[in-house]
Amino acid sequence: MSNASNPVPQSASTKQSATWLGWAVFLVALAATFLLGMLGATIFERRVEAEKQVIRKPIGEWETDNAVWGENYPREYGSFKEMLNPPPPRTKYGNGAPHRDYLAQTPANVILFAGYGFAKDYWQARAHVFAVEDVSKTQRLKPDSPATCWTCKSPDVPRMMHELGGEDIDKLAKGAELFYAAPFAEMKKEVTHPIGCLDCHDPKTMKLRVSRPALREAFARQGKNIDNVSHQEMRTLVCAQCHVEYYFQPKTNYLAFPWDEGMTPEKMEEYYDGIEFADWTHAVSKTKMVKMQHPDYEVYASGVHAYRNVSCADCHMPYRTEGGVKYSNHRLQSPLFDISNSCAVCHRWSEDEIRNRVYAIQDKVHEGRQSAEAMLAKAHFDIAAAMEAGAAEEELANVRKLVRSAQLRWDYVAANNGMGFHSPLECERILAAALDLSGQARVECARILAKRGHTEPVKYPDYGTKEKAQELNKQFIDGKPPKLL
Ligand code: HEC
Ligand code: HEC
Ligand code: HEC
Ligand code: HEC
Repeated sequence: MSNASNPVPQSASTKQSATWLGWAVFLVALAATFLLGMLGATIFERRVEAEKQVIRKPIGEWETDNAVWGENYPREYGSFKEMLNPPPPRTKYGNGAPHRDYLAQTPANVILFAGYGFAKDYWQARAHVFAVEDVSKTQRLKPDSPATCWTCKSPDVPRMMHELGGEDIDKLAKGAELFYAAPFAEMKKEVTHPIGCLDCHDPKTMKLRVSRPALREAFARQGKNIDNVSHQEMRTLVCAQCHVEYYFQPKTNYLAFPWDEGMTPEKMEEYYDGIEFADWTHAVSKTKMVKMQHPDYEVYASGVHAYRNVSCADCHMPYRTEGGVKYSNHRLQSPLFDISNSCAVCHRWSEDEIRNRVYAIQDKVHEGRQSAEAMLAKAHFDIAAAMEAGAAEEELANVRKLVRSAQLRWDYVAANNGMGFHSPLECERILAAALDLSGQARVECARILAKRGHTEPVKYPDYGTKEKAQELNKQFIDGKPPKLL
């Protein structure tokens, strides 16, 4: 009865003790978890500290010798030095052994760059450690070329800019001005270390840092302060110091980025047209041309990975683990050599699937690129044919404008590294525009020729190999072009 009459309190007291016990177990478990967590965190922090903060040997403010930094950061330096190893066999479009000669592979390029250094010598980029050697060897440069060509090759460049700046208030800008004004050969004595630690890091804090003035200034002109960006954005911006489209300002050779109107090829063209800029006059069509350099950052910025805040370093400098320590791989290369640590961290596809997905994208961009380059080469010859037929300069102004626009677009994709992977849809859009504009130029040339009674097809010379194409360029440069009509 009592049980029946007073069931609730009794059962409640049993429940109360059970609840109490439950809480006790829970709290002990919580405390244990917390302490274990603390222990784990301390171990982890110690590792990170050991890796990041114990500076065994202080690094000078302008230390350009990567080996000196390497004494403090042996893992990063070790992976950096791996770039000196022979590269693996090359990927379908990317780098690797043997080194790719763009002109031998695509002789139409020789025609597109007729009259310009890129028609003589144009190799695929190699690893950072070769930057000084490669720029010293290229036939594109002469001793009196501007020292500006050193800008993205070595940490000795910011060091020299600092030294040359003297006591000027805006030391870096003044130093940069003097550096750019010097001849290439004069700075050769100073520039000896290939791209390295000082290019991307502050030696005191090891924080990522933009060491070059051009990117800083391009941001400032758009009202953006580069020192206020997020850490994740810095993991891209350190690359954007060099992997961008740029030009040398006429007379001063001051390095600048043409981004004031925007970073699409249309906007850069607007900028270049606005200052009537040309890199060279085309030897075949006598068109004033712009050479796109390597707008990797601009193309990347229009793609889905940038949209989702994935940085250059996420793919090109993925984490490695060694003895329980995580560090960034400083062997900068094609991510296809290390899919499991890069792409596969986010995409749960098999390595083969990932590689094939990249190749499928690149194949399509490559196809579009080839159609545009074939059309463009013919457009240059069509203009030369119109000149042979006696077309007046004013009559050719519009076709030349079309060809300039078309080639700037084609080159935005062609000179960009990665065969369009960084932003496939945008690359296809730009190639379609290049094809359309060069097609329009050819139609207009046909009309100009027809007006003068030439209705037979233009006789395109053979430029099927690099050597044939270079020989042909020479004839145009020497003022003895072949007959095209
Ligand atoms: C989502 C991953 C990803 C991001 C983000 C990314 N890349 Fe790439 N990058 C690739 C892939 C994939 C290739 C093609 C590699 C190949 O063809 O072997 C590539 C190719 C390159 C190449 C040519 C390498 C070679 O071997 O030919 C360069 C240079 C490059 N990227 C620079 C950059 C820069 C600079 C950024 C940031 C502005 C960037 N990438 C952002 C994945 C990425
Ligand atoms: C092209 C730019 C670049 C160069 C050159 C470079 N680093 Fe880094 N480094 C990075 C980036 C990006 C990170 C990742 C930083 C982050 O997310 O905090 C990094 C991270 C580091 C870290 C932090 C720990 C880690 O591994 O993530 C150390 C230490 C470091 N680098 C040392 C070096 C040393 C030593 C050199 C020269 C041998 C060097 N770096 C050259 C871009 C560079
Ligand atoms: C100081 C200028 C500079 C900076 C900063 C820089 N690069 Fe480069 N990068 C170059 C140059 C120059 C080359 C070509 C070197 C050569 O061919 O000798 C190159 C080549 C490359 C290659 C081709 C490597 C290969 O094996 O084919 C990749 C990939 C690359 N860079 C990615 C990056 C990424 C990602 C960053 C930022 C984390 C970065 N770079 C920062 C100047 C720079
Ligand atoms: C840090 C994470 C991260 C890394 C690393 C990464 N991706 Fe992605 N990737 C994404 C995100 C996020 C998207 C967008 C997905 C969405 O919005 O649906 C994406 C989209 C893609 C797409 C679809 C593109 C499109 O236009 O729809 C492909 C293909 C791709 N990634 C390939 C790669 C490859 C190849 C690599 C390595 C070179 C790589 N990703 C590295 C996060 C990453």
